[in-house]
Amino acid sequence: MEQERKGKSLSHKPVLLQSFLEAVAPVRGLWVDCTFGAGGYSRALCKAGAEHVIGIDCDPDSATIGREVERAERGKFSFIGQQFGGFDKFVDFAKRPPLHGVIFDLGVSSMQLDSAERGFSIKHEAPLDMRMDKRGRSAADIVNQASERMLADIFFCFGEERASRKIARRIVSRRASAQIASTTDLAKIVEQSVAKTQHRKTHPATRVFQALRIAVNNEFEQLIKGLVAAEKSLSEGGWLAVISFHSLEDRIVKRFMRGQTRALSEVDFQLSIDRHKPRFYPINRRPIQPDIAEITANPRSRSARLRIARRNARPASEEIDFGVIGAPCISGLERV
Ligand SMILES: C[S@@+](CC[C@H](N)C(=O)[O-])C[C@H]1O[C@@H](n2cnc3c(N)ncnc32)[C@H](O)[C@@H]1O
Repeated sequence: MEQERKGKSLSHKPVLLQSFLEAVAPVRGLWVDCTFGAGGYSRALCKAGAEHVIGIDCDPDSATIGREVERAERGKFSFIGQQFGGFDKFVDFAKRPPLHGVIFDLGVSSMQLDSAERGFSIKHEAPLDMRMDKRGRSAADIVNQASERMLADIFFCFGEERASRKIARRIVSRRASAQIASTTDLAKIVEQSVAKTQHRKTHPATRVFQALRIAVNNEFEQLIKGLVAAEKSLSEGGWLAVISFHSLEDRIVKRFMRGQTRALSEVDFQLSIDRHKPRFYPINRRPIQPDIAEITANPRSRSARLRIARRNARPASEEIDFGVIGAPCISGLERV
């Protein structure tokens, strides 16, 4: 799928699509694609036999593609430009067949990463933005306004960054003389804070960028609200498929699918949803990962993990307490 934006060719290769289609075959009934992106999954579901597909994405650029797919699929597809959290409240299921499947392909699309001006990538000099929906608080707002303590919490909780305090200290000292406005400004500050002796396979600022993106887009809160909406809306036997790209996300998905409740810990992002009994049964104990051929063809797929579960007959959880940990960051961010 090719998109021309500002003279560049931007595209997104769907990750693990074939493995997903094989696992949920035969595709039928109604599906919700919570992360429409460039529409790779939605189109494939329509083609594979879904009666109707509803695509959701909060990025206005995806909305443009969504309208194109609506025209091309003629009544088989509809697009909703919103955040997927709590989609059970805004998707009108009344006149639709029972919900047969929900797919989340989390994270950012290649179109977002490769659009320098969106500020998601360390590789491009750009304003520090990172907003998927292009609204509200940007990464620059957080970096320039959050307290040193909150910045350190964000980097530690959402990026598992060991040098979180050092980095936060240096940011606060730098911003006293000038605003930190660009991706490269921030990347340089992080590089200077991390000991040269520390051996890292990726760019030293990778974890800080991940953490900020999660904070800017409320990604964990959205994920949990999206999973809960899937639990409420799926019919018995309905499929829940989630592709995650880092271990914190994958942990939330795994625990949700298994219905685990455990003591809360600040670093661990456990769920305190009232769910002593699982509402799903897992289809794959270990996540499905891309093979060498897919990684070679699409290196961005290398960290992808696909978990699939099916809804059982238990009624959806009544009481939901969003004790998403990292809560100090999430609630504190409301003040930024
Ligand atoms: C990895 S891409 C999905 C690519 C898509 N599966 C495809 O084949 O083209 C993730 C998409 O999810 C969207 N997204 C992420 N979090 C979201 C949220 N909370 N609500 C709505 N859309 C979200 C992003 O804007 C992005 O377009």
